[in-house]
Formats: sequence, structure tokens, C-alpha cells
Amino acid sequence: MRSDPNTGTIDILYKIVGQGSAALATRKAGDTIQCLGPIGNAFILSNRTTHPLLLGGGVGIPPMIFFADELRKNSSLTPFVMMGSEIPFPFTTKPSKILVPNIPSDVIAAMPLLDDWGVASRLTSQQGYQGCFEGYVHQLAEHWFKNLDYKIQHGVEVFACGPTKMLKAVAEFAKRNQLPCQVSLEEHMACAVGGCAGCVVPYKENNKVTAMKRVCVDGPIFSAENVY
Ligand code: FES
Repeated sequence: MRSDPNTGTIDILYKIVGQGSAALATRKAGDTIQCLGPIGNAFILSNRTTHPLLLGGGVGIPPMIFFADELRKNSSLTPFVMMGSEIPFPFTTKPSKILVPNIPSDVIAAMPLLDDWGVASRLTSQQGYQGCFEGYVHQLAEHWFKNLDYKIQHGVEVFACGPTKMLKAVAEFAKRNQLPCQVSLEEHMACAVGGCAGCVVPYKENNKVTAMKRVCVDGPIFSAENVY
């Protein structure tokens, strides 16, 4: 979720989904664990991008906080983060102090940390959480994007992380609007160093599958058009 090269620390926000993460959850502050990383590639901003749109769903939320932390160092960028969850958000939501055009006025819930950084954020859910958009992140993204000034539209690039269903919907939104879109895929990983081929996905060029790529080392980030 965050890293600080100056202090040599990283923050990880995780969900218990199996034996590994359950074992990790039994560790106490001050315990030592072995780990290996970073592994794989990173989001890369294109030259034309002025308004990065960061979309995170469920366990795809933490990487977007990490990425927003990086982007805010560049004052020429105006990142906007949308996060969706069907279980309570892993932070206390607050009404945002940052106004965003083309967002319904009652959609005001935000992540306080991002607000403090000056990065606009909005939340979506179908659970009726206060201040959240009732729907999915790609629907709020469409709502925001369609009435933007043309110049701003031209500078939008989409970055997404979350469940496959969400990423496919985001990729379709990006394609409809001719926006560059990078997606960070989730796959089960046995080795995470490229040896087992347990995490491969079909890789497309010009809509034809031309290779199988390993999400752990060739990804996890791909251009949406190469994987959907
Ligand atoms: S997890 Fe083994 S190759 Fe990716």
C-alpha cells in the first residue's frame, strides 16, 4: 500500500484468503519474516497524461493508494482515485474537501489520507454506504468522464486493479472512450519468480492470442487491450 525508501519501510494491507495470509495474520509487531521483492513491472504514465484515473476494487484498493502517493510528487498531474467495495472500506470514510466536477453532489465520501494529500477520491458500493456512489467504479468513471472538457479528456489515462470482472468492465469503458488503460491482474501464484507457469494468461496482439504471459514476472500490469 505504501513504501518509504527513506525509512526502508513498507505498509501492506491484505485480506485473509488462504493459508499463507492466515499465517501472516498471526505475526505480531516486531516479528521477522523473510520476503522477496519487488517482483514484476509497474504502471507507466504515458507522456500525454495529465489526469490519471486510478480505479481500485476490493483488494485492488491498496495499490492505488501506493500509486497516488507516487503521482502526487508530480505537481503537473491531477490524479483522481475511485475505489469500490462491497464490504466496509478498510478505513473510516469522510466527506471530501476536494470538489470534483461531473460527480453527483451526494457522492462525497472519500479516503481521508488521500484528501490530506490533496488527491481527490470517491467511493462506490452497492451496499448503501453513506456518501458513496451506488454502483461500480467503471460506472462512476463513465459519469465523470463523459462531460469533461475535451482537453482534460485527452489527458486521461486509466489505471486499474481489482477482480477480473471489474477489470474487464473498466477495459470496456476505456475502449469505448478510446482511453489508454493499464490493468494490474490478480492470479494465484505458486512461485512468483517465473518458474512454475502457474500464473499465465493469454496475451493478445491485434485481438489474436500470440503468447502466454506470466502475471508474476511479465506483469502484473498489462495494457488492457493485450489481455481483454
Ligand atoms: S507464479 Fe510461478 S511463474 Fe508465476
